[in-house]
Amino acid sequence: MKVINVVGARPNFVKIASIIRAIDKYNSIYPNRIDQILVHTGQHYDENMSRLFFLDLAIPKPDINLEVGSSSHAEQTAEIMTRFEKVCLNENPTHVLVVGDVNSTIACALVATKLGIKVIHVEAGLRSFDRSMPEEINRILTDAISDILFTSEESANANLNREGISPEKIFFVGNVMIDTLFEQREKANKSNILDCIGIKKEVISKYGVLTLHRPANVDDKEVFKEILEALKFIAVNIPIIFPIHPRTLQTINMYDLKDYFTWELFNDIYAHKEAITDGISNDLINAIPPLGYLDFLHLLSNAAIVFTDSGGIQEETTVLGIPCITIRDNTERPITVSNGTNIIAGNRRENIIGSFFSQLNHPKKTQLPPLWDGKAAERIVEILSRYT
Ligand code: UD1
Repeated sequence: MKVINVVGARPNFVKIASIIRAIDKYNSIYPNRIDQILVHTGQHYDENMSRLFFLDLAIPKPDINLEVGSSSHAEQTAEIMTRFEKVCLNENPTHVLVVGDVNSTIACALVATKLGIKVIHVEAGLRSFDRSMPEEINRILTDAISDILFTSEESANANLNREGISPEKIFFVGNVMIDTLFEQREKANKSNILDCIGIKKEVISKYGVLTLHRPANVDDKEVFKEILEALKFIAVNIPIIFPIHPRTLQTINMYDLKDYFTWELFNDIYAHKEAITDGISNDLINAIPPLGYLDFLHLLSNAAIVFTDSGGIQEETTVLGIPCITIRDNTERPITVSNGTNIIAGNRRENIIGSFFSQLNHPKKTQLPPLWDGKAAERIVEILSRYT
């Protein structure tokens, strides 16, 4: 079996790390049964969005980097396809493994299936039922052309069944992102990011973390402003730390929303270590640059509450038992609401503030979802080994 593992954007790196390791472990017992190579499409390319994750998670350097960079959806997808087709023709893999729901996922899956290469989709079947999200389109299409579908929660199996995917292709294995979290938790504990931000001991567990990058939240000025108004109101009760995604930074600049934030830590967070010791701002949202995996996990693990529109962070907070407020109208990960700490708040001011006070007064408790036990990647490799 020869597998090309594909990564492109930040959340992909976290998922592939445990899969690569599990395949390596399998190969150490059964040498050369699964030949794996790693292709990075280059959808994310920044130091903070890409390289730091390879370092933190000890992911091997990609064998091939397609270096597509940023552009419109059509251009980016087409460019990945054109470049990835050449790789497949050169490498002649039996399988292409894609993870998640980003443009790189659908682009490479589509190339592979048209060349007669089997497609493996990890994190299949999640559905927000909101087709205005680019990720929802990527998910539906990738699942429709995949040959082996690995799911992370049982709702995904039901979705795939309803869409007519034959049950023998679907395997409920658990969550590879949570494998990585368990694996890295101890190392993340040693991060000095709280010192860098100036979070004193007495503030630990008394701050909130915010992440925001969905087009539906940050691409429209009025929507974005309304969210920021809510968070500025909340910040008076609890300081908020905001690692800013590059897409979001662009719109902050474009719409001139800089005044909602304090930028002191943004430009040289590590250099400020000594200077910022009197704590973090309560009046404004504390902007910081996007963090690597270990620093972010440490920041998250010590937070009192998390506000986010990310998919993965809804899952991570559920495992960490940290109250989460999702600034979206829906989630493709309903287990984080039914079992976990997640509240779906939408993006209106009153609802975000209401959800905050609800979590503050009655924080949601968590129950670990089935098979989120750190062994999902091992299960994947066990199933793949049947195809060798
Ligand atoms: C992508 C995924 C999204 C995922 C997110 C995680 C799609 C459709 N979206 O969204 O599902 O949650 O990644 O981060 O695939 N940029 C940089 N440096 C980088 C990467 C991006 O500056 O390393 C800037 C570029 O200006 C780019 C913008 O961010 O135009 C958006 O990047 P893009 O990959 O198009 O989508 P994301 O919003 O990151």
